[in-house]
This record gives sequence, structure tokens and C-alpha cells, in this order.
Amino acid sequence: MRIAVGQMEPVLMDRVENLKRVRALLNEATMNEVEVLVLPELCNSGYVFESLEEATSVSEEIPSGEFSRELLSWSKENHLVVAGFCEKTANGLYNSAAAFANGEHLITYRKLHLFLNEKDWFKPGDEEPPIVEFKSARFGLMVCFDWIFPEVARVLTIKGAQVILHPANLVLPYCQDAMVTRSIENSVFTATANRIGTERNVTFSGNSQITDVDGTRLATLTGNQAGLTFTDIDPRKADDKMITERNHIINDRKPELYLRITQTD
Ligand code: ACM
Repeated sequence: MRIAVGQMEPVLMDRVENLKRVRALLNEATMNEVEVLVLPELCNSGYVFESLEEATSVSEEIPSGEFSRELLSWSKENHLVVAGFCEKTANGLYNSAAAFANGEHLITYRKLHLFLNEKDWFKPGDEEPPIVEFKSARFGLMVCFDWIFPEVARVLTIKGAQVILHPANLVLPYCQDAMVTRSIENSVFTATANRIGTERNVTFSGNSQITDVDGTRLATLTGNQAGLTFTDIDPRKADDKMITERNHIINDRKPELYLRITQTD
């Protein structure tokens, strides 16, 4: 199965330009016979808002908005695409990842862990991160800063994810290395699609990547390259959780001794 991450520089609050840049990545994916494509967080809107009004001005409803319709249309040709959206709902804005496959909107995941000023315009999601199925493979969804909470990738793994799809707008320098660890500790593939460029005073780190179940980087982009990188994977490789001949990374856990993780007081 051919999987790609698309790296781009969204233009803050410029929907027309962002749609053009997303289209360029979709075309590149088609030319390269990509089956599964991940695009960055907030690729319809840009990131560094200064007010709720600014964020609202570029938000869209999923799946009726124009970015959704573009991705739905691309997905009709036997494709899965996951992209980050500034999502408008009747209850407010969310920083979301939406999945589209075979011309259908499969699911919208709303980012649980909001970073810095995102807390001023977005509501946090309140549902467990989901799995979507495509061509007999299972894909887990998370968004950017969810990476620093290893519970997210673990929950996705326990739910059966073979590949974690990860739209991102990374600012801190640690995530790409942390996702190598997320792969190793869960024996899953990960695909982080990051953005590039500087918006207002914030610089994003690029270096989008796809990791193997042992953490090996299978495909990478640089810190300033716009475009795609892709690789061919067999998602079933992630079903083998034996990290030595006597260690199963899920069954060897001692969850009864980890209860503090879920205690809130
Ligand atoms: C981030 O969560 N966009 C850093």
C-alpha cells in the first residue's frame, strides 16, 4: 500500500491560495499512485490566529465546506485522505482531522490536546481518537500536539491501529524523534504530515516523515520542502507485537499497576 505525507506552507487566512496548494499535493499524489495521503493540520486556514474572529473567518463545516468537497472528490478514486481542518460547528471551532475515502466522509476527529493559544479559539475534542478502515487496513488518527501524550498512540494501538496518521503544525523540536519512539513502543507505522514556513512570529519545522514499526524512517522531507514523500508499506506488519521472541509489547503490560495514569485526583 502506497502512503504519502504532503508538506506545504498554508497562507494565513487565505482560503483560495490554500485550496490551490492542497490541489497541487493531490495532483502530485495522483501522479505517484498514492493510495493513502496525509496533509498537515489546519491546512485550510493557517495557524497563528490572533482572535476568534480570524479563526472563524477561515473555518469550514465538514463535509460541506470547499476543502472537504475537494478531498471527497479526490478520495473517490479508491483513495484515503486525512487532513487537518479549522472546523466550524454550531458549538464553536475545533482543530480537527477529517478522513475521506472512496468518496465518503468517514469521520472527523477533534484534537484533544490543544497547544498554546489554540486554547483561545478552539474547543478541545471529547471523544476517543478513532480508527478508520481502508483496503483491509486500520488507520488511527491524532493531531499534532497529541504526540506528547503517549496515551493517544497507545489507545489507538489497543484499538487496532496499524498505521497512525498525524496531521501536524509542529513548533517544538522533539516531535519527529518522539514519533520514532511512538512507533517502537507500539509497533505501528506513523505518518506525520507537517507544515513549513513562518507565520507572524512562529516558525514550523517541516521534516515530515513516515516511520516503520521499528522506528526506521522510511520517507522524509526537509525543513523547507513543499511536496510529497511516499513509501510502500504492508500494514499487517504492525500486527506482530513480539519485540523479542519472549516479549509481546501489548500482552506484557501490567495495566493493573498503571491505574495512576487515569486517576484525576
Ligand atoms: C501543535 O499542536 N500545533 C503544536
